[in-house]
Amino acid sequence: MAEEPPEFAVRGDRFSGGPARGFLSSMETDVHLFTADLAVDRAHVIMLGAQSILDEEEVAAILVGLDAIEEAGFDELPAAEDIHEAIETDLIDRVGPVGGKLHTARSRNDEVATCIRYHLREDMLELVSSLLALRDALADQAHEHVETVMPGYTHLQPAQPTTVAHWAISYERSLARDVDRVFDAYNRINRSPLGAAAFAGTPYPIDPMLTAELLGFEGPMENSMDAVTSRDVCLEALAVASSVAVTLSALAEDLILFTNRGFIDLDDDYASTSSIMPQKKNPDSLELVRATSGDALGAQTAVATMLKGLPRAYNRDLQSVTPHLLTGIDSVTTATDVAAGGVSTSTWYPAVLESSVSEGLNTATDVADFLAIQGVPFRTAHAIVAEAAAAAEGDMTTFVSGLLEATTSLELSLEVETIEEYLSAVSSVNRRDSHGGPAPRAVRTQLTQVTATLDEHHHMLDTHREGLERASTRLESEVARYA
Ligand code: ARG
Repeated sequence: MAEEPPEFAVRGDRFSGGPARGFLSSMETDVHLFTADLAVDRAHVIMLGAQSILDEEEVAAILVGLDAIEEAGFDELPAAEDIHEAIETDLIDRVGPVGGKLHTARSRNDEVATCIRYHLREDMLELVSSLLALRDALADQAHEHVETVMPGYTHLQPAQPTTVAHWAISYERSLARDVDRVFDAYNRINRSPLGAAAFAGTPYPIDPMLTAELLGFEGPMENSMDAVTSRDVCLEALAVASSVAVTLSALAEDLILFTNRGFIDLDDDYASTSSIMPQKKNPDSLELVRATSGDALGAQTAVATMLKGLPRAYNRDLQSVTPHLLTGIDSVTTATDVAAGGVSTSTWYPAVLESSVSEGLNTATDVADFLAIQGVPFRTAHAIVAEAAAAAEGDMTTFVSGLLEATTSLELSLEVETIEEYLSAVSSVNRRDSHGGPAPRAVRTQLTQVTATLDEHHHMLDTHREGLERASTRLESEVARYA
């Protein structure tokens, strides 16, 4: 009986089975790289045609095969070690041996590095888009609540009155720096490794500038060994995502505390109930936002640990970086979306905030400041107020009389009305109009800056997206020329 011809496989049958087969596979993660890989394949084959490395018919046949593979979808790819091998095998099945020319002057090493950067760019822009939605939501709350006083805390103890706007802008500013960080990282991500081949270049007269252009990259990477080996941009992307996640966790924590104190009410879409206690409305979605810092920092730590001590050039360890990268960034983007929704749909209760501000002696610092302005050394003023506050145990009348007594001995004649004026939360906030402070006047200046930065960042996002769209339209039209 004639032997069956061996089934065609790109890697031959060197690795045919055993437990390592599945272990080696990156197919589960590679589903996310399907679009990227097809774009990289098309750009590469068009470049091979432009450089006369392949002839027109060969390029056309390969492009037809890639279209068919795209149409069939990722799930129809043959079993393979990774998506690069799967697509190549499928291509040869569909168009015959000419499909084997796609991999001319390239390696899976520069291919995968290019796919990762191609995909990561989109992910970073998605993250920016979500961050802008969250910042827009915070800015809207700030515009609405410039005069809404609330307690400010240090050490989680009521400290000084501030406003909801001042609180909201504090997070918006922090997230604005994160957006700057994403754009900064984006510029380093946006370089093409394609053309580096395995790590040591290729004897073919390739044009890496052209492939870079067709894929929307700023240009090719300068060194082919660096191009295939380095994943520092992945680490950087995760570091930026971790920074976002850490800020989100603080924001979520504040909002959780605010729901607990009755300052805000979360929309039902962002709350959950208890399976046993029917009266409960729990801020579960914010708790999951708070937990996302664990995902992001975990991914960052995993990637840094994988990269540490890797020798030049390509090592398969690099394959393990990709899933952490993709899930790490994705979880932060999702958490940002949830935080944005939570902020924009929450209701603030100004009356609760105001009564909470007046409880306790939140404005004691104002009284100390007032005494200091009258010429009492601040340290003495601090001691006088502290003593009166301790004796009063939160009772305002006792506090005022204690204070009057203490100041008489200093030969300061204070009016009860004056002290009460200094104890009022609203006037306390209004007086603190120093740069960056909570007074409505100072906050309006901050809001002008917030609006300007938001406009600028929205514009930068649009510009980057347009750049990517322009490149993909150009690639499509180059492909169409072979149709
Ligand atoms: N799946 C591999 C990765 O993600 C592609 C590169 C394989 N290269 C190799 N030399 N085995 O890194």
